[in-house]
Amino acid sequence: MSNDLSHIHRFVPGNRREATPLLLLHGTGGDESDLLPLGEAIAPGAALLSPRGQVLEHGMPRFFRRLAEGVFDEDDVRRRANELGDFVTEARKRYGLKAPIALGYSNGANIAAAMMLLRPEALAGGILLRAMVPLRDAPVADLAGKPVLIVSGQSDPIIPPSNSQRLAVMLTKAGGDVQHRTLPVGHQLSQADLTIAKEWLGNIEAMNQTAA
Ligand code: MLT
Repeated sequence: MSNDLSHIHRFVPGNRREATPLLLLHGTGGDESDLLPLGEAIAPGAALLSPRGQVLEHGMPRFFRRLAEGVFDEDDVRRRANELGDFVTEARKRYGLKAPIALGYSNGANIAAAMMLLRPEALAGGILLRAMVPLRDAPVADLAGKPVLIVSGQSDPIIPPSNSQRLAVMLTKAGGDVQHRTLPVGHQLSQADLTIAKEWLGNIEAMNQTAA
């Protein structure tokens, strides 16, 4: 664990320099260690940058404040998304990284979506697992062809299908190359999330290599 940059975080250098790094963003009550196994499974050998959310809700780390489940303090969303964007800039300099693809779950997927809308330059793309619309009045972002995978749960008690659909439309309108999959599951992650994310990322990396 390191606490010398703006966010407490863990960094795993990986052994494939050409692989796009992943920015791992945990769910409510998680921390910087939570998603490391998922990141390693989805992107073997890629560098992993995993910050801890700076907000505490009854002692549980999160990436922004909420007023109730699914009801966000949008001023705080904006502030924290910008701080996280700055952290990515700092960490890229410190560790010599390309722009990362965010891999977020739940609250982490929501802050990743907010970063895509507010700080699109900070990310090379996003894998958003159980994400919802993070801001009602989002600025018009330029995601110009950035790849985004959204994986939703059909019976998610926190996120109605219409909400994740709206997020997909929002990111597509901003120019993102969005793929939205819905699984017959709830809010929890399933093996299918891992399989879909790994395959999607493999395709993105293959396209990047062809383009290089
Ligand atoms: C959020 O606060 O981001 C969502 O309600 C998901 C969660 O429970 O963390």
